[in-house]
Amino acid sequence: MSQPFYITTPIYYVNAEPHLGHAYTTIVADVASRFHRLAGDEVRFQTGTDEHGDKIAQAAQERGVTPQQYADQISGKFRHLWPELHITNDKFIRTTDADHKQVVTSILQKVYDAGDIYFAKYGGHYCVGCERFLTEHEMEGGKCPDHGTVPVYQEEENYFFRMSNYTEQLKAHIEAHPDFIRPERYKNEVLSMLEQGLEDLCISRPKTRLTWGIDLPFDPNYVTYVWFDALINYLTGLGWPDGDNMAKFWPGAQHLIAKDILKPHAIFWPTMLMSLARAEGRPAQDYLYQHLNVHGYWNVDQAKMSKSLGNVVRPLELAEIYGVEAFRYFVMREMSFGLDSSFSEQLLVERYNSDLANDLGNLFSRVLNMLHKYRGGVVPQPGPEQPQDAELAKLAEAVLAEYRRENERFSFHKALASVWSLIGAANKYVVVSEPWTLDKDPALAPRLDRVLHDLCQLLAKVAVMIRPVMPLTAEKMAGVLGLGSIEPGMLALLEKGQALLAPGSQTHQPPALFPRIDTKKVQAKAAKAEQKADTKPAPKAAAEPTEISIEQFGQVKLKVATVLTAERIPKADKILKLTLDAGEDEPRTVVAGVAQHYAPEELVGLQVVIVANLKPAKLRGITSQGMVLAAVGPDGLCVVSPSKPTPVGSQVR
Ligand code: MSP
Repeated sequence: MSQPFYITTPIYYVNAEPHLGHAYTTIVADVASRFHRLAGDEVRFQTGTDEHGDKIAQAAQERGVTPQQYADQISGKFRHLWPELHITNDKFIRTTDADHKQVVTSILQKVYDAGDIYFAKYGGHYCVGCERFLTEHEMEGGKCPDHGTVPVYQEEENYFFRMSNYTEQLKAHIEAHPDFIRPERYKNEVLSMLEQGLEDLCISRPKTRLTWGIDLPFDPNYVTYVWFDALINYLTGLGWPDGDNMAKFWPGAQHLIAKDILKPHAIFWPTMLMSLARAEGRPAQDYLYQHLNVHGYWNVDQAKMSKSLGNVVRPLELAEIYGVEAFRYFVMREMSFGLDSSFSEQLLVERYNSDLANDLGNLFSRVLNMLHKYRGGVVPQPGPEQPQDAELAKLAEAVLAEYRRENERFSFHKALASVWSLIGAANKYVVVSEPWTLDKDPALAPRLDRVLHDLCQLLAKVAVMIRPVMPLTAEKMAGVLGLGSIEPGMLALLEKGQALLAPGSQTHQPPALFPRIDTKKVQAKAAKAEQKADTKPAPKAAAEPTEISIEQFGQVKLKVATVLTAERIPKADKILKLTLDAGEDEPRTVVAGVAQHYAPEELVGLQVVIVANLKPAKLRGITSQGMVLAAVGPDGLCVVSPSKPTPVGSQVR
């Protein structure tokens, strides 16, 4: 029996509603849990919400409610979303739960008693978005690279955790366990942070500034720093210190996060655990988690997903249109675990049609339809094996091995690609075997039996392997094949070479698993939505050609920018996609309606004037971050440009 598997997601802040990023991490944890259950392992899967700290206190204040009321409301949204996405977590933890407060308090006291916490004065650059002090080295141009904001310099007396004492021990552990942090790029990132040396960690906030937190047991004038509180949730959920689940699940603990919170999980957390072990006189090994699995970021149409850009992807909206199963498949297949990925609905539709409707859906319906047509739906006794049958069986065996390996190391996209290589091979096998020709000659009946039998067995294997990602589809397939339900541990049966379907068993008529999506309809719908947005009556004030005040004009931020790239957009003959240097941290993407007046190359290098604070809008699937000014001349549009070269980012008044 292998080690029980404990998987956690980050506990999400309750200052924003759940979006694609949160859904992705939680779906990955769900797929990993379902995979391990399928492999016969004991599994515990925990998610939850992180509810203390500045960020939440601020968000509640802005809405005129108490932090607790606010936390209850948003935490509820996360909790209710997960079943809708077919997430099977065993525990949903909240940092405002009474048992969690108790655990944080006892751990703080232990670490304090062991001498790893001291009181001192400190000044540093605090980023509220990250809820932590940034080192000079981490800031870029004086700003937080993740949030683009200038951290606030804070100086006050606080309690500190002696994190720096554990630098060498952590380095040694990472070097001795090369897959402690994976994929490797993140391990290297952490090692280079350790090379630069660690500072001690400020773990308190004075109540004069923040009361929304867990009291320090050794000083009632302070509350606990939100990360020290939050990370401990992973232990609380198992009933630390001596709950049954602690002994069973902690040795196989794996955390799942995105790259944004690498430092707290790869440095704060293991050093906290080392200190706790030291305080209890136990080896660090007893407390260190097994793996930290780190994935990349979902961007949307190449831009960072953010409320201010108006491009936040809501998972339920997509699940409602395309189905939860297709949505889960898409995110798992599309993102190479560890790297960033760009989301677009177009891509989702393309994958749906090619992988689900064409490859899997077609294979399933054509095999079952032939079985019903030629053998009354009964799985036949196979005739003698021929080389192409053996080849397909060999491939299925190799895929099964690859499937386990890649799932275990969190390379889910590779595991799926491998299953789809088998589906592709099976579709080819149908074409080459020509069951419709075999059926015409009674002498070839044993051959037809063999082909149909092997295809049914293969479909049963596919159903088992896709179950972690698409549980309902897998069960539907299993039901039609007469397999019954796919039980925990069934993967192990397949690996032992056990056939899942007995010859003579009756199958059912296949439903269409994934009806094709008409891409033209999707495009037409998107175009209609765009048109509607374009022709929406302008707000009243703008429609009236009245004078405006200088203050009103001042609200429009006009800036000089230089065109870096210009490209046509397929099937859109009026607009061009431009990237502009407007003197900001990152180039801006702007869609300009000048394609009938300029060739793209005429614009590259040209200085233009943009409306820089226009609300972003989506045009042909591209998020346009502003507008390029153009004069409407008798011969068409003429882009407005400063008469002399002007530094990018200059204001236009
Ligand atoms: N509360 C902390 C975590 C404490 S864990 C002890 C926190 N919360 S968060 O709400 O900001 O969640 C961050 C996590 O949400 C990321 O690590 C990732 O799992 C998920 N994602 C949020 N946006 C994302 C993307 N755009 N892309 C992929 N995942 C992202 O940090």
